[in-house]
Amino acid sequence: MNSIFHQWWPVALSAQLRNKPVASQLHDTPLVLFRTREGRAAALPDRCPHRFAPLSAGKVCDGQIECPYHGWRFSADGRCTRIPGSDQASGSKPLLDSLACCEAYGLVWVSLSTETLLTPPVAPAHQHQILDTFWITDRVQCSLQDAAENFLDGFHTHFVHSGWIRHDKQRQKISAQVHPLADGVEAVYSEEGKQSGIISRLFERERGVSMGRFRMPCLAEIEYRDGNDALNLLVSVWLVPCGNGQLQLFARIATKRGWLPAIIKRYILSKLFRVILRQDRLMLEKVTHNKLRFPDPLLTPLDGEQDLLGPSIRKLLEDGQPLIFEERQFSFWL
Ligand code: FES
Ligand SMILES: [Fe+2]
Repeated sequence: MNSIFHQWWPVALSAQLRNKPVASQLHDTPLVLFRTREGRAAALPDRCPHRFAPLSAGKVCDGQIECPYHGWRFSADGRCTRIPGSDQASGSKPLLDSLACCEAYGLVWVSLSTETLLTPPVAPAHQHQILDTFWITDRVQCSLQDAAENFLDGFHTHFVHSGWIRHDKQRQKISAQVHPLADGVEAVYSEEGKQSGIISRLFERERGVSMGRFRMPCLAEIEYRDGNDALNLLVSVWLVPCGNGQLQLFARIATKRGWLPAIIKRYILSKLFRVILRQDRLMLEKVTHNKLRFPDPLLTPLDGEQDLLGPSIRKLLEDGQPLIFEERQFSFWL
């Protein structure tokens, strides 16, 4: 398995994990998540070793997970602590392989690596700034690469989100600069000015610069700054392959604190983002199904010069290595 699959990946929102087990899946591994008595997040394979019942259908008792079938209980380290009707206890040997699990930035993270990970989970930008934030989650039938590129590509917005983000008939000349990051790639756009779409009209005045970036293994982020270089809007989406060609999305929408109460911004923005997300989901799923109609392994996508980040994202995900290239400048009609 490619080493990027052994890094930290988000598997749930922290707020989802209360006093019940939560089922999740990371790559091909179904997981059960629960909280220990100390409140720590824990992850085990979602399969009781006795007769393979899903532990996620059971209960959390005293910080341990209880199987719904015959009631065997397991602690966070995978040891069986109770076998109802028997004096037998499993002893010190774990019956389940517990998975590395931690919490950060409002998410529960799991790694499938058996070695200690030296790199921390990939963090959103401006994490120390006080912002109004909320989450949207979704599932899409598509690859990580296709979803990351879609999210960071401005040139589909005139068509897939016509009127919502941009209009094909109201393009403006912009300049873009692309450079590698230690763990990804970033594009910086300037001279965008006022946007034609509804979202921008509602939430931005004059736009200064904006950025689109991808960071390994799975974070795609867009950031809009105003004319004074202050953050207006930051959307961070972690894209997590969760088996059967599905992708689980955890999107964190952050806006600058201002006069508009967070609850109202959340109400309006979540409605707008759900429309955008649905439009993207429909297109990405069409692409996925269409690729299956042409199952030629040698078929590769044809890149245009306006595909600023897609080829780099593809390379990062294929090689798992930092990119090395000189900063590049472009200008386009966006
Ligand atoms: S299947 Fe889990 S206790 Fe029997
Ligand atoms: Fe889109």
